[in-house]
Amino acid sequence: MMIGTPLTPSAVRVMLLGAGELGKEVIIALQRLGIEVIAVDRYANAPGHQVAHHSHVIDMTDAAALRQLITCERPHLIVPEIEAIATDTLAEIEQQGLAEVIPSAHATQLTMNREGIRRLAAETLELATSRYSFASSVNALHMAIDGGIGYPCLVKPVMSSSGKGQSRVKGPQDIDKAWNNAMDSGRVSIGKVIVEEIIKFDFEITLLTVRACNAEGRIETYFCDPIGHIQKDGDYVESWQPQAMSAAALEKSKKIARAVTNNLGGRGLFGVELFIRGDEVWFSEVSPRPHDTGMVTMVTQWQNEFELHARAILGLPVNTERRNAGASAVIYGGMDETGIAFDKIDKALAIADTELRLFGKPESFVKRRMGVALAHAGDTNEARKKAKACAATITTLKP
Ligand SMILES: Nc1ncnc2c1ncn2[C@@H]1O[C@H](COP(=O)(O)OP(=O)(O)O)[C@@H](O)[C@H]1O
Ligand SMILES: [Mg+2]
Repeated sequence: MMIGTPLTPSAVRVMLLGAGELGKEVIIALQRLGIEVIAVDRYANAPGHQVAHHSHVIDMTDAAALRQLITCERPHLIVPEIEAIATDTLAEIEQQGLAEVIPSAHATQLTMNREGIRRLAAETLELATSRYSFASSVNALHMAIDGGIGYPCLVKPVMSSSGKGQSRVKGPQDIDKAWNNAMDSGRVSIGKVIVEEIIKFDFEITLLTVRACNAEGRIETYFCDPIGHIQKDGDYVESWQPQAMSAAALEKSKKIARAVTNNLGGRGLFGVELFIRGDEVWFSEVSPRPHDTGMVTMVTQWQNEFELHARAILGLPVNTERRNAGASAVIYGGMDETGIAFDKIDKALAIADTELRLFGKPESFVKRRMGVALAHAGDTNEARKKAKACAATITTLKP
């Protein structure tokens, strides 16, 4: 593996499709290795734009616009950071040998839609998942629930993330509202939902799984220690590493993660989401890229999830070893406003062993994730306390 000089003909060029807070950290990791980075997002001054060599604003679901940009920038690697992308175009680009898609065009196609990945996991790989059904009309949704999913259940748009458009359905009276909510808030509405049985888990984890080249140049699978997290309205508010779990549950989790990521293929880091009850494990979903709950690895591992992704995609060796326990707590905008300010940073960082990431998003919403507080400690309870205290100390102000 050779890396040239950025902004010269020898440069290794990587294009990030999506330049949010996760993409920003991947870019920083790539920059440190001397990669030339092109950041793309749907709005100007996205977090990743602010640290890349080149930045572009396009609608990434627009196949023609996406192809034109790739043809013009000629990246060696294309790294999707979001799901809403014209993935068929990526498949063509990969097939024509124009660029390599990370982890693979197949993986981005399968995971952009809940249907693709759920059918792969449950039907092809026969892994344990919640009972589920797909519905393309409100009538079909009624029938699916009455026909076996039962109450309570969860309705989600097949294309959405961060809990957007999801509803908990407690009885028949909630179905119409859940359907409308899904249709209104899916980022790309294709008129279809998944309805899932609710799993009563003890806790849920993200198992960061890395497919990277070993010393012989062959792809090997590596696991980070499990990350525990708490979700509110389908969006993550707190995470910690390691999550304590039984040896049997951890073994099953790895087996599931290996099966799924082997099928998706390619090189890179994946966030495998699993539900755990006792020794039982259910597969929920997978991101073929760094995971929001994995931001905690910035204070727990020698190589955080972004560095692991950067190394894996470049064909470099990885080390998933954890250094210490840690936690992350989300900082919300608290208001609908542009150009907000964050106050009490000095007080927040006076809490021992804490760090902050403020993403630099130009526009704030009440519930938009604008930053994250990180803390390391001897154990996760201590780390969670510190991270939460750090996040809670920060206030947001109108400009
Ligand atoms: N079948 C389920 N049973 C129990 N909880 C669920 C189920 N599906 C989702 N959840 C909860 O909702 C969260 C978000 O759901 P998820 O499918 O991961 O959506 P997203 O793609 O928006 O992250 C999960 O992390 C979990 O806490
Ligand atoms: Mg999820």
